[in-house]
Amino acid sequence: MKTHLKSVGQTDTWITPKYITDALGKFDLDPCAHTDMPWQHADRCYTIHDDGLSQKWDGRVWLNPPYNQYRINHWLQKMSVHKNGIMLINAACETKRFYKYVYPEATGILMMNHRPFFCTPDGKRGPYGSGQSICLVSYDEQNLQSLLQSKLGVVLKPIGNFQIEEDALKLF
Ligand SMILES: C[S@@+](CC[C@H](N)C(=O)[O-])C[C@H]1O[C@@H](n2cnc3c(N)ncnc32)[C@H](O)[C@@H]1O
Repeated sequence: MKTHLKSVGQTDTWITPKYITDALGKFDLDPCAHTDMPWQHADRCYTIHDDGLSQKWDGRVWLNPPYNQYRINHWLQKMSVHKNGIMLINAACETKRFYKYVYPEATGILMMNHRPFFCTPDGKRGPYGSGQSICLVSYDEQNLQSLLQSKLGVVLKPIGNFQIEEDALKLF
C-alpha cells in the first residue's frame, strides 16, 4: 500500500512543508525539530537530543509532534497546557486524544483543504501525500486569527468553547 502513513510508521522525521508555517506567521519555538532541518519553523528549536518534551516551552509554539512514539499524547497534553501556538495533527476528531487535549482548550481547528506532502530532511517533497486528513489546532485567540488568515482551509471556531457531551471520556 503506497501511503504516507506506511512511511510514518517507519520514521517520524517527516518535515512540515515550509508554505504551511509561512502562512501562519512567526513562531518562537519548535520543540521537536529534526536534527538537520531544511528550514526553520521557529526562532528556537529543541531536537531529540534536548528532549523537547521535558524542556520549558516559551512563546508561540509550532508543534508537529513525533507520531511514532508512545509519548505522542504527552506532546498534545503539554501543548494544551502551554496554550500559545498551533499544532498540526491528523484530523482524527473522534479520538480520545481530541476529547482530552484538543476540544477542551482549542480556540479553533483548521481542516486543511488538501493532504500535504511532508518532506524529507533534505527538503525534498516526500513520495506520498498524507494518508489522512490533516488539521491545525490553535490554542489562543491570536493563533486562531492566524488560522483564519492563512487560507489553508476551513476554520471551525467554537462559540465560547467546543461543546463536549457530558461523560464523553467514558466512551473510550
Ligand atoms: C513529525 S517531525 C516534525 C519536525 C518539525 N517539527 C516540523 O514540523 O517540520 C517530528 C520530529 O520530532 C523529533 N523528535 C522525536 N523525539 C523528540 C524529542 N524527545 N524531543 C525533540 N524532538 C524529538 C524527531 O526527530 C522528528 O524530526
